[in-house]
Amino acid sequence: ITQYLYLYQQFWYRPTLIQPTITFQKHFQAKHDDIVIASLPKAGTTWLKALAFATMKRHHFIPSQNDHPLLHSNPHTIVPYFETNIGDNPSVIPDLSTLPEPRMFGTHLPFPSLSNSIHNSNCKIIYICRNPFDTFISYWHFSNNIVPSPLPTLTLEEAFERYSEGIHPFGPFWSHVLGYWKASKDTPNKVLFLKYEDLKADINFELKRMAQFLDCPFSEGEESGGVIDSIIELCSFKKMKELEINKNGKALDGVENKYYFRKGETGDWVNYFSPWMTEKLSKIIKEKLSECSLSF
Ligand code: A3P
Repeated sequence: ITQYLYLYQQFWYRPTLIQPTITFQKHFQAKHDDIVIASLPKAGTTWLKALAFATMKRHHFIPSQNDHPLLHSNPHTIVPYFETNIGDNPSVIPDLSTLPEPRMFGTHLPFPSLSNSIHNSNCKIIYICRNPFDTFISYWHFSNNIVPSPLPTLTLEEAFERYSEGIHPFGPFWSHVLGYWKASKDTPNKVLFLKYEDLKADINFELKRMAQFLDCPFSEGEESGGVIDSIIELCSFKKMKELEINKNGKALDGVENKYYFRKGETGDWVNYFSPWMTEKLSKIIKEKLSECSLSF
């Protein structure tokens, strides 16, 4: 976790992501059938991208077959990533208008900072949230792995102190989560709010809910024919982690895919938090999320 983050529109960003964010806000044109996968880093983005992709494309690619795109490319390379460092030169902004529809995009931007065209179009947003303890520990490991970074890294305790103050990439955690949570309550047809822990507990139920939300529910024939099970298997942690592309490939931003697959479990934080950390973060989260029914 590097020391340097900047506040932009009330959220914290790595310096290299501010210009691409502004560029995205200015230039991105949403289409009505776009699907936006939104999350804080380490909330389960990779898993959700794969599930959404496999669900939406199931009529083109049979999930159980060996030529499925997810077997050969990490969803990072299927889904163009808003936050690649594209600068503000319109000639280098990727032309996203020709991508096959429905287009899918991933973003870590907070809800209020999404482009107006996303807010104003009928495109759908699926948000995945993960408990703040595991999110922090997962990010801690990730950020220590994605070096080489010229910047000094923080100790676990230093990073935790900042996280507790809300200073974390795309944080504060609670503001990010609350933004999407409120939007999902106000506009349930536009924003679906998912929890990593719920997906781990009952992926079958959550996947059906997601397909319904995307207006492509699974038919009874698909369910009894094993399509849902095949998608779950294809996107499982075990399967994805073992793929060649995820062992040795790289994401668009140069980060090695293997760093997106660590343990894939809930509750690993207990191995890292000392009692004072648990007490402190629990108290903060309870306070900050008091206005909503979310609990972790
Ligand atoms: P851990 O570090 O706790 O293992 P993101 O995709 O948002 O970067 O999140 C990464 C986290 O999701 C990592 O958590 C990673 O192991 C976990 N993950 C990746 N793919 C997964 C999958 N198919 N099923 C469950 N968890 C997955």
